[in-house]
Amino acid sequence: MFTIEGPVIYALLLIVPVALLLSRRRSIKASAPKPLADETDKEKEQKPAKSIMQPPRDDLVAPKEDPYTVEQLKAFDGSDPSKPIYVAIKGTVFDVSHKTDVYGPGKSYNLFAGKDASKALGMSSLKPEDAISDYSTLSEGDMKTLNDWHTFFTKRYNIVGRVVDLPPPSVPTSNM
Ligand code: HEM
Repeated sequence: MFTIEGPVIYALLLIVPVALLLSRRRSIKASAPKPLADETDKEKEQKPAKSIMQPPRDDLVAPKEDPYTVEQLKAFDGSDPSKPIYVAIKGTVFDVSHKTDVYGPGKSYNLFAGKDASKALGMSSLKPEDAISDYSTLSEGDMKTLNDWHTFFTKRYNIVGRVVDLPPPSVPTSNM
């Protein structure tokens, strides 16, 4: 007759919850939205867009080259409603004022406002400690995510200038 030995039961009790936990972690990471920049125009034509992300805009103006220091950029974090909200990625400053619902004070992505938080965008991280400009430690995959975000923003937000005094990278990188 088939019987399950004590150690087998203990092993199952240990393995099943761990497996459930791991599969849950994977599905949370997979559900985090990714920028759409890797989709080619041809792919977009073939299938109807079902994204939760805002579509690209066709009313953007020519990019500006105005210089911003890291210190000046802080004033555009949404805390002063009379000022626009800016997000910088790889030194490019984007005006995200029309999305106060996500970048405004207390909103999910306010940690990206008034600064260059390239590293966090590359890592798909919302941790304040990752919201820094130095992206030199990113893996190849995270570097692609960061570049895709840059493309995503370029298609949706006006470029108002460049950050002129970002701190140098902590490690030499060829990903610039
Ligand atoms: C499971 C977790 C997440 C959910 C459910 C989620 C949900 C969403 C939704 C619904 C939007 C569209 C917002 C809108 O257009 O109004 C969005 C956009 C966005 N998400 Fe997330 N998000 C998650 C995780 C993350 C993480 C970890 C990051 C960190 C980089 C992130 C960064 C962004 C950015 C930058 C946008 C673009 C906002 C824009 O249109 O400018 N998200 N997310």
